[in-house]
Amino acid sequence: MSSSEAAGNLEAKLERLLAVETFDPPAGFTPRHQVDPDAVGDPEQFWAEQARTLIDWDTPFVKILDDTNPPFYQWFGDGQLNVSHNCLDRHVAAGRGDKVAYHWHGEEGERRTITYADLLAETQRFANGLKSLGVGRGDVVGIFLPMIPEVVVAMLACARIGAVHNVVFGGFAASAVRERMEVSDAKALVTVDGARRKGKTAPVKQSVDAELGDLATLEHIVVVRSTGTPAPMLDGRDVWYDELLAAADPVCPAEPLAAEHPLFILYSSGSTAKPKGILHTTGGYLTGVTYTHRLVFDLDPATDVFWCSADVGWITGHSYIVYGPLSNGATSVMYEGAPDYPDKDIWWQLVEEYKVTIFYTAPTAIRTCMKWGARYPDRHDLSSLRLIGTVGEPINPKAWLWYHTVIGGERCPIVDTWWQTETGAIMISPLPGRTPTKPGSATRPLPGISPALVDEEGKPIEEGTGILVITRPWPSMLRTLYRDDERFKETYFSRFGPETYLVGDAARRDADGYLWIIGRIDDVINVSGHRLSTAEVESAIVAHEGVAEAAVVAQADEDTGQSIVAFVTLSGDRVGDDADVAELRDHVAKRIGKLARPKRIIWADDLPKTRSGKIMRRLLRDIAEGRELGDVTTLRDPGVMAALQGKIAAAADD
Ligand code: WTA
Repeated sequence: MSSSEAAGNLEAKLERLLAVETFDPPAGFTPRHQVDPDAVGDPEQFWAEQARTLIDWDTPFVKILDDTNPPFYQWFGDGQLNVSHNCLDRHVAAGRGDKVAYHWHGEEGERRTITYADLLAETQRFANGLKSLGVGRGDVVGIFLPMIPEVVVAMLACARIGAVHNVVFGGFAASAVRERMEVSDAKALVTVDGARRKGKTAPVKQSVDAELGDLATLEHIVVVRSTGTPAPMLDGRDVWYDELLAAADPVCPAEPLAAEHPLFILYSSGSTAKPKGILHTTGGYLTGVTYTHRLVFDLDPATDVFWCSADVGWITGHSYIVYGPLSNGATSVMYEGAPDYPDKDIWWQLVEEYKVTIFYTAPTAIRTCMKWGARYPDRHDLSSLRLIGTVGEPINPKAWLWYHTVIGGERCPIVDTWWQTETGAIMISPLPGRTPTKPGSATRPLPGISPALVDEEGKPIEEGTGILVITRPWPSMLRTLYRDDERFKETYFSRFGPETYLVGDAARRDADGYLWIIGRIDDVINVSGHRLSTAEVESAIVAHEGVAEAAVVAQADEDTGQSIVAFVTLSGDRVGDDADVAELRDHVAKRIGKLARPKRIIWADDLPKTRSGKIMRRLLRDIAEGRELGDVTTLRDPGVMAALQGKIAAAADD
């Protein structure tokens, strides 16, 4: 059969499958773990049992949940444990030191096999290295690294001594790193000489210096030698990672820490330009990720090879590349590079080579692979796969069906997992092999989790569309926003009271009780599963000297889910041209990162505003998506809209 015939057949099959509403669990898949969602009578006892059976405690907890001061909840508060011990020492002590923790695969095809014993040895040395730099319990350590094994070592070394890591996604600009280090008072930063992407190398330490050189609170910068890119080193402040390791004592016992000791901060976008420092703590977070990683992915650590294709710089990487898999003693694949380098089949080559059994990725990636065509996965033997999953955004049924057919070979259950940086771990997901799935629905809450839908007044909605909330605390929930308890309360627990967590998403519940996530109800944009705030992008654009005003909205995008559209007014009487578009996009990339670049820039003489001067983003969204305009009567100057629509029509004629 020719490849175009095969593509035609696949297309016809997907069209046929689009009519199927519900997929029963694949017959050949027998779940390994017993859970009965209906048997969770008392959620507190349920979580206590998970915490006791899945985690090693130095001091067992007696108190399960302290809910006397909502929304500041505490879990397992009188217990003590260490996350790094749970991720490393306990497996090595049980005789599994030779088990592979990571099959690391570099962009140029390099391979590194890292066992649990290797990881323990390097983590101990690095923990001692950090101590020698004066880093101790409660100090914040920034981590700005690409997808290399040292990023895991740095995180675990912090956890070992009670330092709090603050990882910044490697794709962000150095100015974003500065902001995050500054507001968290980071004492040290772990970074790299340079980073690779698709055969090119870019300096990292140099750009970090340019932005952070004068940050007084930052006492030390540790630099991993990765690409050999020249890196200026400041005497007394900067130190090479390998030299720090070589000088360090090999033994560093894991320190018993209170269950509520902070484990990490991870900055995430909210409704304002200032990112939110989401804080997770030790015992509850570890319980949540260990439990979900085992149950949702039906994990057998002895035989599975798990691969989460996210970056460690996002919560998905924290929970399902680092903490969940390591706590469970699993073997993971860690891949440094892009999905299309050296060619578009690299992911599937890795699945074949490492015999990956569980694969976890974002819907955007699936849509991209679907566009590239089935001929890339078809080059490889994917029969090792047993279960596949998605995260980060709603998945459209066609992409789900393609994933199910082409990657999952129609035999792998798909877990569409809904959760957030704030929730720490997966909250809504099918139980593989048990829950019948409907393409596009994350199905039902996991045992122990209590979501609800409410209307504007907070009244429960049984069936239909509403605002998603969570009505009971859960162990891996965020504890606060770093040094900003007020914003924490205001953002998540003011609308419906201190006991109801406001998710920020709208969702629909169907007649079978299945949940369908619709999207954000705040000014957060989801581009390729990455959260960005309209306000943050706007403030980056107006920071350009030529710009007078800007408004940013999201537009539905068939590849990236949503994309960014910026309406921009230039200073003076200037009308923007192609060079301005390129310059503004570049400007945003430098201030935030490439993924925040607007896909479209629309030059506007003026922006639609209410009489009180508020920009009406709703109307801009209508324009961007080519819809009939909603109500314009509250506008100060309705003529603005006619002018803008004229612009769009002209652009379409080009
Ligand atoms: C969205 C990523 C639909 C949602 C783990 C949420 C999803 C935001 C799904 C959190 C899903 C995540 N289906 N939408 N399966 N998973 N989302 O903090 O809008 O980067 O609020 O965490 O992504 O994004 P975050």
